[in-house]
Amino acid sequence: MQYHDTHWRTSMRIRLDVNNALDHTIGSHGISSATLEALVPAAQQALVDIHDQRETLGWPVLPEQDVSQIIAVAERIRHVENFVVLGIGGSALGNIAVQSALNHPFYNELPRDKRTAPKLYVIDNSDPDLNAALLETLDPASTVYNVISKSGTTAETMASFLAVRDHLSRTLGPAALKEHIILTTDPKSGFVRQIGSKEGWTMLDLPPNVGGRFSVLTTVGLLSAAVTGIDIRALLAGAAYGYELASNSDVLRNPAALAAMVNHACAQQGKNMVVMMPYSHHLRHIADWFAQLWAESLGKKYHLDGSIAHVGTTPIKALGATDQHSQVQLYAEGPFDKLVNFIAVDQYQHTLTIPGAYPELEGVSYLGGHTFNELIQAEQQATAIALNDAGRPNITHHLPAINAFTIGQLFMLFEMQTAIAGALLNINTFDQPGVEAGKVATYALLGREGFAQRREEIAAARSRRNPQWEV
Ligand code: PA5
Repeated sequence: MQYHDTHWRTSMRIRLDVNNALDHTIGSHGISSATLEALVPAAQQALVDIHDQRETLGWPVLPEQDVSQIIAVAERIRHVENFVVLGIGGSALGNIAVQSALNHPFYNELPRDKRTAPKLYVIDNSDPDLNAALLETLDPASTVYNVISKSGTTAETMASFLAVRDHLSRTLGPAALKEHIILTTDPKSGFVRQIGSKEGWTMLDLPPNVGGRFSVLTTVGLLSAAVTGIDIRALLAGAAYGYELASNSDVLRNPAALAAMVNHACAQQGKNMVVMMPYSHHLRHIADWFAQLWAESLGKKYHLDGSIAHVGTTPIKALGATDQHSQVQLYAEGPFDKLVNFIAVDQYQHTLTIPGAYPELEGVSYLGGHTFNELIQAEQQATAIALNDAGRPNITHHLPAINAFTIGQLFMLFEMQTAIAGALLNINTFDQPGVEAGKVATYALLGREGFAQRREEIAAARSRRNPQWEV
């Protein structure tokens, strides 16, 4: 395998350039090197703590896992026509990010002889139109569903599961369910575990210590990846390499630590939003995945000592070059409240030349003979230049290419960056009480047993509403 070769691995190293966030490049809205140097001891301590707790945290050791069971299950179902993931949040976003990064942009549209694996769909919403359309559209006889819920209680996922179960029972008969449903959940607890044990269905375990937003490299993201033919061992090899880079105790030479420190320093200067802007259609859902990782990990009310924090910068998803024509106006001339994080790609999978035509029309003919590659790379650089000129901090992750190794590496670098950023904020990066509060309110509104008191509290709060303010 290529990824065992040291020279090849080094050629696939993701580089981070933070020059455009520093005051020597963009002036007074940039951060100083002294500010970054002052963060060095805290970042180094964060690294030591993460390393000491790597087994407890779980996600740093995922590159070392044995994936033979995942590959065996994937092989069993690769002949079916459709593979559908039912999950939400951390139980869906990683799957979507991996698929769009590494599979053909029109993967589901490819004829079966060009796609040796099932079509893939991820249903991550309780929208009735989406769920009804799913049941109406896919042939149940040639569809396998992967229900993913770590807690085994999430209302959206459970509702989709119940609808699918009923549909399969009615169309194929109850005996067929075990061939069409795979459950991914906590190895011991939760309703999904209970259902799977009772029904005797295939179940994949999720490491109990790994939270949803850090779970892309567990059974959550790896099964759908393996089913569609992605090399999951290369993903994990990339993640291991990312961990190696992100463990460098010289934190100013460590891409995860440096990115965390720049984000932290920018936030201290009032840049309370971070725009994630890959210049690649393949990477558009990496921005979604990052948004959850960053928001859910760092948006916290309390410091570790219990004092009030209310910290976290708001992630914004953008796509280059598309959003140059919508959001970039705001980034260049709006409030000085953002750090822009570009992801640039050195080597795209294709080199596509723009054909020449209309020599008499200078505004069109100059494109002829250039490549799309040159165009999108120039656009990324041009946006960075425009932001620099406007004094707006921006940093760039450079991916040498898009492949399973670099995507695994990117996941791990961002996870390490998030963990270090959380340590710099002195918060608990790994809980999500705000998300849980929404889940509890949903249970209360739907009359779930044990949530009556919350239901009364909500009713009391609603009674204070004044119809005057509803027009
Ligand atoms: O990151 C998280 O913890 C959440 O986004 C969860 O992944 C999401 O709420 C789904 O939870 P579960 O997998 O328990 O159904």
